[in-house]
Amino acid sequence: MFKRNKKAPQNNMRHLITQLNPRSPISEQYRAIRTNLQFSAIDEQIKSIVITSAGPAAGKSITAANLAVVYAQQGMKTLLIDADLRKPTVHYTFRLDNLSGLSSVLIGETSFEDAAEDSAVDNLQILSCGPIPPNPAELLASKRMSDLIAYAEEHYDFVIIDAPPVLAVTDAKIISHKVDGTMFVIRNGQTDKEHVQKAYDIINDGKARVLGAVLNDVERDEESYYYYYGN
Ligand SMILES: Nc1ncnc2c1ncn2[C@@H]1O[C@H](COP(=O)(O)OP(=O)(O)OP(=O)(O)O)[C@@H](O)[C@H]1O
Ligand SMILES: [Mg+2]
Repeated sequence: MFKRNKKAPQNNMRHLITQLNPRSPISEQYRAIRTNLQFSAIDEQIKSIVITSAGPAAGKSITAANLAVVYAQQGMKTLLIDADLRKPTVHYTFRLDNLSGLSSVLIGETSFEDAAEDSAVDNLQILSCGPIPPNPAELLASKRMSDLIAYAEEHYDFVIIDAPPVLAVTDAKIISHKVDGTMFVIRNGQTDKEHVQKAYDIINDGKARVLGAVLNDVERDEESYYYYYGN
């Protein structure tokens, strides 16, 4: 999608372009992803999506966060859930303490209302990962997780779920069965074609709906701006 400043801070703090500079061409491209998602859902409403990739570090979390911001900026009540219960980052991005979150709601320790937090962005609430559990896949496969997503779909206009990579663990596949659509992030120059195909085949099992992919980390040039494709 874009090359970020190589001198970006090395700590865990992250900066969201859509929040800092909504008028930048990069923010415009996140809005283009939003528009394409809305186009892909003409006949049936898509209220919840999971964002995943074949391998690690494709840019899933940064895409999920920026997409959540542009949905909220459009006036839609948006929820971003960090369902990467192995390597969570959403609480860093939105500077939240993560004392409770998805894992605490799933084990019944906290209510959803207490765990979901306001972000600095109007209309955007965050359910961070919470304490890292020993059994992420089991928690994500639970009926409580299905109920949580159903509740979120009812109380928010749009729900975005950040997930681990498909080829590493089964978590994203589990979530893909519980949401309306799955979106892949493919990192330019890093993601192997065969791995993408393999990840796609794993998700596309008849029970999940693959919406398309975002090609991340593309050198932007004047002519070609278009990086999103759907199926
Ligand atoms: N287009 C980009 N240009 C430069 N850096 C990027 C770009 N996209 C992502 N990054 C950086 O790459 C790293 C991985 O990004 P991110 O955490 O969003 O990926 P991820 O797919 O969620 O990773 P993981 O598999 O660990 O969950 C981060 O440090 C992020 O800031
Ligand atoms: Mg991530």
